[in-house]
Amino acid sequence: MSQKIIIDTDPGIDDTMAIFFALNSPEIDVLGLTTVYGNTPTERGTINALRILEIASRTDIPVYAGAIKPLESEYTGKGEFVHGHDGQGNTNLEPAKTKKGTGSAVDFLEKAIKENPGEVTLVPVGPLTNIAQLLLNNPKIAKDIKEIILMGGNALSQGNASPSAEANIRNDPEAADIVFSADCEISMVGLDVTNQVFMDKEHIDKIVNFDSPQTKHLKKIFPFYVDFLSKFFDKEGMATHDSSAIAYLIDRNLFKTIQYPIVVETLGISRGKTWMGTGMDQLDHNPWEDRRNVNICIEVDEEKVIDLIIQRVAS
Ligand code: RIB
Ligand code: CA
Repeated sequence: MSQKIIIDTDPGIDDTMAIFFALNSPEIDVLGLTTVYGNTPTERGTINALRILEIASRTDIPVYAGAIKPLESEYTGKGEFVHGHDGQGNTNLEPAKTKKGTGSAVDFLEKAIKENPGEVTLVPVGPLTNIAQLLLNNPKIAKDIKEIILMGGNALSQGNASPSAEANIRNDPEAADIVFSADCEISMVGLDVTNQVFMDKEHIDKIVNFDSPQTKHLKKIFPFYVDFLSKFFDKEGMATHDSSAIAYLIDRNLFKTIQYPIVVETLGISRGKTWMGTGMDQLDHNPWEDRRNVNICIEVDEEKVIDLIIQRVAS
């Protein structure tokens, strides 16, 4: 039986590959895409999502536009130097012919979960504003969510948006903290593992040399992302952040997890840091108290995850 998921996304170059990866995987039934600001503004990201589905010939999947800014701060649009001004590597993607769904992303999420209680996994791969808003509107809905598998955060490693924080969490730490306090199963596929899933030129060539509409599109958009990340990592290639969340969904045996509750710092230079509550029972005031443990990915079988991505995307 395939797993029903909704991908909440800020597409985004690595988001694009993750969407194709999910669409090409028989274990997964994508009920819809919901969009959020992040790598690019929501309006642009929504057009990208529609176009990505057109390229994949999956216009049966609805797209709903979500939040245009964080819950309590402003969107500063800092994703452009990583993903291009259009979120697609400055490739000037042709306009989408299909239209977004009427109604908001949050309404769609709520409806889909209520129609399929206990069956829908949310896969947010952008800032967590839409998911937090869903939980704020209707806190009881958490019990009907099968699981939240999110790409974001950093438990044991450095951030990428600041020394302390990962970009998706740093974009809306208040929202992320609401999500980590939800009463449902949560798995965090963060930089601790996604930076390790590093595709080098040989891996990338296997994708871009394959002949399909999806891989032709990836061939156009990858260079901008690879240029930026090659400088960031000081080696040629790219970290496959968002696709790692999809790989976890398909086969969690490829990852090692530890179980601790998470609190997100919202202040100062650590704003956006995902802190694990390890051995805090002796504290008078324990900020992790009353939170459920999160499955925090800390190790990954890099080779097997990359093989899986290539196998599914180049098919
Ligand atoms: O930190 C990596 C995350 O930030 C990914 O989701 C990427 O798409 C960017 O949004
Ligand atoms: Ca993303």
